[in-house]
Amino acid sequence: MNDTPEKDVLPSNLLAKDKRYCWHPMTQHKTEPDPPVIVRAVGASLYDENGNEILDMISSWWTCVHGHSNPQLNQALIDQAQNLEHVMFAGFTHPPAIKLAEKLAQALPGDLNRVFYSDNGSTANEIALKIAYQYWINQGQHQRTKFLAFEKAYHGETVGAMSVGKGCGFFDDFEDLMFEVDKVPYPYTWNDDKNIEEKERTALEHIEKTMKQHGNEIAALIVEPLMQGAGGLRFSRPEFMHAVTKMAHDYNLLVIYDEVAVGFGRTGRLFACEKIGITPDLICLSKGLTSGYLPMSVTVATDDVYDVFLNDDPDRAFLHSHSFTANPLACTVALKSLEMFEEHKILDKIAYIESCHQDFLSTLQTQFQIFMPRVMGSIMAFNIADEEGAYKNENGECLREYFFQNGLNIRPIGNAVYLMPPFCITKDQLDRAYQGIIDGLSLIHQAKQAA
Ligand SMILES: Cc1ncc(COP(=O)(O)O)c(C=O)c1O
Repeated sequence: MNDTPEKDVLPSNLLAKDKRYCWHPMTQHKTEPDPPVIVRAVGASLYDENGNEILDMISSWWTCVHGHSNPQLNQALIDQAQNLEHVMFAGFTHPPAIKLAEKLAQALPGDLNRVFYSDNGSTANEIALKIAYQYWINQGQHQRTKFLAFEKAYHGETVGAMSVGKGCGFFDDFEDLMFEVDKVPYPYTWNDDKNIEEKERTALEHIEKTMKQHGNEIAALIVEPLMQGAGGLRFSRPEFMHAVTKMAHDYNLLVIYDEVAVGFGRTGRLFACEKIGITPDLICLSKGLTSGYLPMSVTVATDDVYDVFLNDDPDRAFLHSHSFTANPLACTVALKSLEMFEEHKILDKIAYIESCHQDFLSTLQTQFQIFMPRVMGSIMAFNIADEEGAYKNENGECLREYFFQNGLNIRPIGNAVYLMPPFCITKDQLDRAYQGIIDGLSLIHQAKQAA
């Protein structure tokens, strides 16, 4: 093999080829600026083909919790690739899947012990919805065909996930494809929110009314616990999440926690459900599961849910599969990633990041008018206007471009500016991001004054 790069793969040609052949997610190709060609990444830093550094302050869509190209994860992946890269998971099993399932069951609260593997956050939720739906069919309750979900919830891109995310603003063209979902109010909150108890009370009254009237037709409630992500980094209190989960259980509904975004330390605990102090019937995990290395997700069910699928009739099994279910490479990296949480005392690092975020927001509030400042674990957010706005927002877009030009991967959602860095971030890198935010806000402020 020739080690010299061929002419047509030299970096200068790559962007032209990207433009000719690639179709990027969430991208209007007619108007968006060219993306950088990232050729290397380490820790919190991405490097483009010209050697420019971009700090990945949102962990590449919230995935790489341990940062990029971690030596321990790299080694685990190499070792596993030399033994077993893949084997189908129906009719076969293998050590990485078994060890990871055991480790997850031990880490999760209650009897969340049955791990169903799939490929991404959307499929993890799709699977949870299907398990919940069939759970009732297996018990002869065919009328439980509806789901309950929160306003502005986002659960992914497959049709079932879109259905429970109806109204989040991304899927309006596809409404006719979706199944029936009852939407209930979501009382979101921020630092020093004086009205939160009142908002929660009103929401709980509404939710209880819906459960009283339609509980018998509902298969499950699906929740993004403690934070709605794509809906605008909207936080909720553990007290509310606890009350709504308990209420659903009292009305005999299953509860699905979509911890795709918040799982693996984001909120300050390994799982949000630990912070809430309650065990859902099903939990969905992805993103941080493999620390961004490989696409994998899990839907973990309680023993009680699993038992309803045990039957002499093969059709009562959960007849769902994906080609790459429980890929050994992904399972190995996920297992190592989980071990690293203990080995490197990652929760302590997250507590430190949280305190840095709080200090920064306190200072920022004295310099600029910002709205709904909020911090939870490694997540910091605030709004630049007293409204949420759509996913795309002129000021948000302008800031994103500014951050990007200044070596920061920070992508506001609507009016919400947020950071969700990898846990290996240094204080120096955090300070660079904080300064970038101050400079970006100054620019917007100056533009407003000039207008
Ligand atoms: C809460 C939540 N659920 C599900 C998903 C979908 O995950 P994926 O993009 O891996 O399909 C996301 C993605 O951002 C998410 O934030």
